[in-house]
Amino acid sequence: MSKAITIFGATGDLAQKMLFPSLYFLDMDGLLEPGLKIAGTARSDTDFTAKVREAVKERAGDLFKDDVWQRFAARLSYVAGDANDEALYKALPKFDDVVYYLATSPDFFGTIARHLKAAGLAHDGARIAVEKPLGHDLASSREIETALEEAFTEDRIFRVDHYLGKETVQNLIALRFANTLFEPLWNKDSIEHVQITVAETVGVDGRWSYYDHYGALRDIVQNHLLQLLCLIAMEVPASLEPDSVRNEKVKVLRSLRPIGADGVERETVRGQYTKGTAEGKAVPGYTGEQGGSASDSETFVAIAAHIDNWRWAGVPFYLRTGKRMSERSTLIVVQFKPVPHSIFPRRGLDANRLTIRLQPEEDIALSLMNKTPSLEQGGMQLKPLSLNLSLIDAFKNRRRIAYERLLLDALAKNQTLFVRRDETEAAWTWIDAIENGWRARDMFPLPYPAGTDGPPDAHKLIGRDGRGWVD
Ligand code: BG6
Repeated sequence: MSKAITIFGATGDLAQKMLFPSLYFLDMDGLLEPGLKIAGTARSDTDFTAKVREAVKERAGDLFKDDVWQRFAARLSYVAGDANDEALYKALPKFDDVVYYLATSPDFFGTIARHLKAAGLAHDGARIAVEKPLGHDLASSREIETALEEAFTEDRIFRVDHYLGKETVQNLIALRFANTLFEPLWNKDSIEHVQITVAETVGVDGRWSYYDHYGALRDIVQNHLLQLLCLIAMEVPASLEPDSVRNEKVKVLRSLRPIGADGVERETVRGQYTKGTAEGKAVPGYTGEQGGSASDSETFVAIAAHIDNWRWAGVPFYLRTGKRMSERSTLIVVQFKPVPHSIFPRRGLDANRLTIRLQPEEDIALSLMNKTPSLEQGGMQLKPLSLNLSLIDAFKNRRRIAYERLLLDALAKNQTLFVRRDETEAAWTWIDAIENGWRARDMFPLPYPAGTDGPPDAHKLIGRDGRGWVD
């Protein structure tokens, strides 16, 4: 039986920078079946193998080995063609067991699915993998979904959110459900608030017109940030079966308190970077980026979110993401409540805090109050110290590209780390209310200089509750 992955948009950025290097690494580690073929298609007529070789070499560095490359290159094939043209689908190689990976603009998702079906390529052994963003809002995501579903059943649709492929993101499940320590405390009785930050130092990286159509809310919050929130907030799933996990995630998304026109001014902050400094270099503002022009799109968002269910009633989830921030950091902070009564007269006690850093380093820290060694009279001196778990030190493994896990799972038909349609729709419903609220209230992005922490109002958003962002 022939088995393959066929990548649409095979000469584009995502395929070249992520998908082919990931497949190469999987091959290097002996994780690709010997007979697996890798087919590419895109519009350009190019020396495909040479192009992929360059991309893989750049990413793999010292791990690029000629013998692995030879084995990998023997799997590759390429067909140049237009995704709108049925001739392309006649020319594509046919396989019994295949993942069609759409690394294209979402504008093509529906068309490609329809053509695959018409050409008899969407048979029972075929899956389709689609990248975010799935649409621009609920209505457009439904249009795409309808087209996908006309060709593929839900169990053959793999919606990719690459954050779910990250080791540390999966580790959230292990941390919560493979330890007895946290679960009894993991609720409104012991947790005061949660912060989730996805901060980047990069700007829009040459993809201004794409980004401008979406903005930070749709680019990051709708998917990556809400997925992190789901993993932190969901109930214990019955198992790791795809639908067990996804049933719990969708409940969280549906419990998010809507923020509409009445709430956006209080619960959200929008920002857009102006010129400034990033990693020591002067950089232009968002509108001055290559391809840029005047724009009302946000490159920063902060939100005070609430999950209206028994576990989380009254616990704010502060969400924040931005481009051109002062440092790259993906961070989840679980702030516990203080002890109900202090017997230590000398000073206030810092409440415990669990900090899960996903990027750039992967580590987990639990702050605990300790006695400072001293013979002083008149009460103990206390100091918060941290129990640290560095995943890099504990596991000396190469840090994998998130797509390695996801490609392998799509090939193995395992949907646990892929997003289900109802999750996407629940996320869009919440995001659309915010977008509509911004429009109704004429809420334009506030400026912040590149290389800073976003507009000052983001500090006010959390500061009004007597709290501050943890960096
Ligand atoms: C992508 C967004 O989904 O995620 C980009 O479109 C963003 O704008 C990227 O830069 C961040 O991913 P990572 O893995 O670098 O945190």
